[in-house]
Amino acid sequence: MKNTVRTFQEAKEKGEKITMLTAYDYSTAKLMDEAGINAILVGDSLGNTILGYDDTISVTMEDMIHHGAAVARGTKDTMVVIDMPFMSYQTSTYDALVNAGRLMKEGRANAVKLEGGASVCEQIKAITEAGIPVMAHIGLTPQSINAFGGNRVQGKSEEAAQKLIDDALAVQKAGAFAVVLECIPAKLATLITKKLDIPTIGIGAGAGCDGQILVYQDMLGMFSDYIPKFVKRFANVGDAMKAGFADYIKEVSEGTYPAEEHTFKINDEILDKLY
Ligand code: KIV
Repeated sequence: MKNTVRTFQEAKEKGEKITMLTAYDYSTAKLMDEAGINAILVGDSLGNTILGYDDTISVTMEDMIHHGAAVARGTKDTMVVIDMPFMSYQTSTYDALVNAGRLMKEGRANAVKLEGGASVCEQIKAITEAGIPVMAHIGLTPQSINAFGGNRVQGKSEEAAQKLIDDALAVQKAGAFAVVLECIPAKLATLITKKLDIPTIGIGAGAGCDGQILVYQDMLGMFSDYIPKFVKRFANVGDAMKAGFADYIKEVSEGTYPAEEHTFKINDEILDKLY
């Protein structure tokens, strides 16, 4: 059964956890869909993990559409959420609507995600009123890395924690169907989760959230540039890949690959006629 915004709401009501991972390509999305993940986020984290930038600032609408459409082609039951990149929605409600529409039409998203609280509620309201589900994202919002002065845990002071509660309630009121809580104290995330009717999806926000999300290269041990404290390594795929690459290099160098069983045959009589 296709996961939708209703799956998210029903899971919250029943107290069932929602599972999300990022993905950026067809074959990874297909594997996640077959494994039974509820939703995939085509995150603008692809700026770091796929394109090799230091941050997400340079990611474009074209990048998101290109990778989003590939993920959508790889999914059957999984809901696909595509991130709105930096400056595709902050500039105006009109830009936000046009760009959310492009992610739906060209990227084949089932929902879009954007970063920010009360300051982007006008955009959330306009996009949801156009029939496009919006996932909000508060706490550590990587598109604001220059304003934060680095990747820091958010909401530790009374004022900052209260602002996060207010932002969460504001995005819910504006129409968001769920909200990502990134890098905030676990007890604060639990409090926000209890105050909201919509589900919270945590990343570095503890077990009290309604669901969890991780960047898939982080949880599979494929990305070592920066490993946040909240990441658990569920498999060592990076090591397995490196070992496979090294074996291939060795066998090609030694001439043991390709072997007989990997080759195509031609009739010797035809060969004899060639000059
Ligand atoms: O871009 C991304 O991958 C994200 C998640 C970390 C929530 O926004």
